[in-house]
Amino acid sequence: MQLDPEDEQILAGERGETRQKMLELLVALGKVFGAEHLVPIKSAQVSGASYKTIGKYGLDWLASLDAKAIVPAVLNPIGMARTRWEEMGIDPDFAKKQQAVVRAYKRLGIRLDCTCTPYYLHETRYSDHLAWSESSAVSYANSVIGARTNREGGPSALAAAIIGKTPCYGLHLPQNRVPQMVIDVHADTSRWGVADYGALGYHAGKLVGNRIPFFQGIKPDADQLKAIGAAMAATGAVALYHVEGITPEAQKNQYDISGIETVPVEQADVSRLFTDIPVDAVALGCPHCSSAELAEIARLLTGKIVTKPLYVFAAQGVIDRNVKIVDSIEKSGARVFADTCMVVSPAMEQYSSIMINSGKALAYVPNMCGGQARIGTIEDCVRVATE
Ligand code: F3S
Repeated sequence: MQLDPEDEQILAGERGETRQKMLELLVALGKVFGAEHLVPIKSAQVSGASYKTIGKYGLDWLASLDAKAIVPAVLNPIGMARTRWEEMGIDPDFAKKQQAVVRAYKRLGIRLDCTCTPYYLHETRYSDHLAWSESSAVSYANSVIGARTNREGGPSALAAAIIGKTPCYGLHLPQNRVPQMVIDVHADTSRWGVADYGALGYHAGKLVGNRIPFFQGIKPDADQLKAIGAAMAATGAVALYHVEGITPEAQKNQYDISGIETVPVEQADVSRLFTDIPVDAVALGCPHCSSAELAEIARLLTGKIVTKPLYVFAAQGVIDRNVKIVDSIEKSGARVFADTCMVVSPAMEQYSSIMINSGKALAYVPNMCGGQARIGTIEDCVRVATE
């Protein structure tokens, strides 16, 4: 692998032991995947932030490091809202350990925005190279923005944040971004919302596995694209997809899809995922809500009071931009929390059945929280939370 003179100095230990170890990790990764060089990154997003997932050993490893990130870097959602954890019913002992993880990342120069939607916080552009970890964020960056990132593990994203570079392989290279399967949707999607697109992603992820799909027959907006990608990353391992005429790399019809395996998807494939099992809580914001989604939730809740716990999750930066909207949501008794989500927070384990409007949460809630999950439209979620 070609390294520049500064990297050679880092590898020789001249810039401290942590930097040396971080670059060793990136070089080892690059060698495994055949990278010829490192590429500078614009930002990093680091997973392994919830104490629920990293535990004591992860915390001890973080505490042993001594260097600072040199590119903007944010954290993945953690196990609780940093400032409102008591309201979430979080155990004080867990809160103490989670705060120690957050302090360890802060010491390493990682911004304490804990979100899977970093693209709402700092500008991310077409062809930017990134080192992001969270699967839905990776999918959105690659597919909707046209930026370039592999799905990093927590340690490799942290290493990239500290070195400011990542090994150039996989989705950083244009030849690895071409479609490998066509998903041809036969349905009237004109009335589809985020939940329908999430359900489509849930179904499509199982068909596609780790290939790069090219969708035909749909016209999703940005939030709906976010929902498809998040769900496909959960039921498959999709880090990049294209939508004919919509996503940037498919807009110019630059890909020749003739001869690629084509799989049809019918309305029934999506509809069968919608059930009416009883639920004891409702959670929205997987991935974290956009400003438009917060506004929609506020509109639907106007004049209503919740009768079941209704959680809404969004990045703190998005909440700060929408203070009046968030106040209006909370007037109903719903709660808008930053930094965490229905999957990574232990607070959700008290419920046996959770209603969500997300294909990704449909896949993860049963595994991570132990309860059942029911997907519904955002209107149905609000209706169930207020009936
Ligand atoms: Fe984000 Fe949590 Fe969903 S990290 S994508 S809100 S599972």
